[in-house]
Amino acid sequence: MKHLLSIEELTAAQLTALLDHAAVLKANRGTRNPQPLAGQTWALIFTKSSTRTRVSFEVGIRELGGFPMFLSKNDIQLGRGEPIRDTARVLGRMVHGCIIRTFAQQDVIDFAEFSNIPTINALTDDEHPCQILADLLTIREKLGTWENRKIAFIGDGFSNMTRSWMWAAKHLGFELVVASPIACQPPADFLTNLNAHNVSITTDPAAASKGAHVINTDVWLSMGQEGQAEKEAEFAGFEVNSTLLAHSAPGHIVLHCLPAYRGKEISAEVLELHADTIFQQAENRLHAQKAILCALAR
Ligand code: CP
Ligand code: NVA
Repeated sequence: MKHLLSIEELTAAQLTALLDHAAVLKANRGTRNPQPLAGQTWALIFTKSSTRTRVSFEVGIRELGGFPMFLSKNDIQLGRGEPIRDTARVLGRMVHGCIIRTFAQQDVIDFAEFSNIPTINALTDDEHPCQILADLLTIREKLGTWENRKIAFIGDGFSNMTRSWMWAAKHLGFELVVASPIACQPPADFLTNLNAHNVSITTDPAAASKGAHVINTDVWLSMGQEGQAEKEAEFAGFEVNSTLLAHSAPGHIVLHCLPAYRGKEISAEVLELHADTIFQQAENRLHAQKAILCALAR
């Protein structure tokens, strides 16, 4: 594996190997500390806000012996229009790897190509692969496995989160039901390309959550969509609340990648009731990303 740009391009074997290593790194944290990034500098180029991703990567890089260099778009000439490929060609000669959070997936692909250093997608409009690895690790910790489990995603059916989740379902074979308003459902060409019989789409959140072992949600308006009141209005009835969860499987868990907007995609009551899982999920960003860094370190 040279880069981590999407869940789409990973295999089931790569996904499970990363999760297995993440679990080892988590168990050994503070006692055995591998240093595969010793002497290395890894850049973080972020053109969108972040709490979890930035902190977990900065801490993870340090724990693996490396030095993180955070560069917001306002710190570098990228923010004044310098092309991503030129930024990549410069950084590729100076740093050992790069983590990018931005809008266009193509920018991450171009950075990987032109820098020729390990490149990690830390969220684009298309995918959020690091988050999905942390989510899968959390499911394994809480439920033992995703096999024979029904996973529901309630919310925007074509966000970076749902797209990555649909690819994870394709690779790993679990049942995924996405409940989303018609206007926010994945387009037919995406579903044709996905070609996953275990992924279904509905407009009915109650049907999706019925019998589900995992109920997953995310903001209705992703970064870059702020103020789209018309889109937000589509989600009436899509709040993950105790009524919706009443018919979920016994022992179900609730996931939220955070940040959460209580009273919109999730009720305050459900968030607090499932806070143990949701903040374990947030912590697992650190362990999952350390596994990614180890897999990509040269
Ligand atoms: N879930 C997640 O990516 O959080 P941040 O936006 O805070 O990094
Ligand atoms: N779909 C959300 C995820 C945030 C971590 C967004 O892109 O804003």
